[in-house]
Amino acid sequence: MTSPVWHPYAHLKTQRQAPKVIGGEGPTFTLEGGETLLDATCSWWCMIHGYRHPRLVQAIQQQADELCHVMLGGLTHEPADRLARALVRVTPEGLNHVFYSDSGSVGMEVAMKMAVQFHQLRGKPGKHRLLSLMKAYHGDTAGCMAVCDPEEGMHSLFAGYLPRHHFAPAPTAPFDATPAEVAHDLAALREVLEAHHQEIAALLMEPLLQAAGGLNMTSPHYLEGARKLCDEFDVLLVFDEVATGFGRTGRMFAADHADVTPDIMVLSKGLTGGYLGHAATLATDRVHDAFIGDSEMHAFMHGPTFMGNPLACRVALESLAIFEEEDYLGKIAGLSRVLREELVDDEALAAHPEVVDVRDLGATAVIESHDATSLKGVADWARDQGVWLRPIGRWLYTMPAYITSHDDMRRITDVMKGWFLAR
Ligand SMILES: Cc1ncc(COP(=O)(O)O)c(C=O)c1O
Repeated sequence: MTSPVWHPYAHLKTQRQAPKVIGGEGPTFTLEGGETLLDATCSWWCMIHGYRHPRLVQAIQQQADELCHVMLGGLTHEPADRLARALVRVTPEGLNHVFYSDSGSVGMEVAMKMAVQFHQLRGKPGKHRLLSLMKAYHGDTAGCMAVCDPEEGMHSLFAGYLPRHHFAPAPTAPFDATPAEVAHDLAALREVLEAHHQEIAALLMEPLLQAAGGLNMTSPHYLEGARKLCDEFDVLLVFDEVATGFGRTGRMFAADHADVTPDIMVLSKGLTGGYLGHAATLATDRVHDAFIGDSEMHAFMHGPTFMGNPLACRVALESLAIFEEEDYLGKIAGLSRVLREELVDDEALAAHPEVVDVRDLGATAVIESHDATSLKGVADWARDQGVWLRPIGRWLYTMPAYITSHDDMRRITDVMKGWFLAR
């Protein structure tokens, strides 16, 4: 009998039976029948410590024994409080307030509502639209779909249903660009702000690495310039660090590369080491304090049932402790070196006629091909060699768990380049 499970992003007519995962250990998971697969994507980039990490499993078990859940409306608990303090400590200076929710998309919804209400409360109700970037991906809920790339993104069929916002071109200058090389991208951003700032509440961006929209990487100077432009035009700066947060770009947060504090920052995925769904939207005093006032309108009207779930907060605290105690930034730097040597520096790969570009940032690397058809069949081919790869469109990428050994990292890069060079 076919399963009633409806799978995400699947064409129901052509989809094949999904392999059944029965367990996992470190960077690999095991399928029914005994096949083990080395996960090149760490389950949509969240399982940063790999599977079945003993400390994370134990943290959940211990918390489950004490308190699995309680509402955060009018109540609080130790794990929520401790995690909020830890997040304020590790995130850029000035983000002092933490609003929890249950997924990256909802964390972004919270950020967007917060930005619009912030301007309302300051007597600027006209600032009720958002400015996003082409190639952006911020999630699949309605508010988030409306700020994803409206052309190349996956939600264009919903255009009539979604609120309309503004878009600036995606940045084109690479990570190591000079300030002069970033000037063109910032001029494009300025142009949209000049024309529409009266109605723009916030500029949203996935800092340095636009992930699901095509692994587009840019320079820290772009973040610095965006910060200045937001200040000039009275627009809040929102960093969606759902994918980039917790080490993915080589620093704890992408914002750290530029020493920039956004007004609002969203974390999820690696927040709990991937062990439970959760998100945190952090805000500066300036944003938070605008909500202090006498009118009914001053309350922030949002409160997901599972916000601040004790299991999620407890496992997030443990995840952060492991990250800091076990020098994860050192591990990420090691993986980054392997990715550079094996993929980016490979001249034959760069010269392959189907390859447009090979680039990397921290524990992320991508081979961009001209056309998605070049990657047809790559997942099966990788699986035959014991590696789980799942390309996005024409981008063949890896975002491994940080505990992946260098030998395993090379197994992944061998399969990625082998698809082009050794078939
Ligand atoms: C940058 C970014 N923002 C938001 C989201 C949405 O997160 P979630 O899938 O947890 O709703 C994602 C998911 O991939 C993401 O990459």
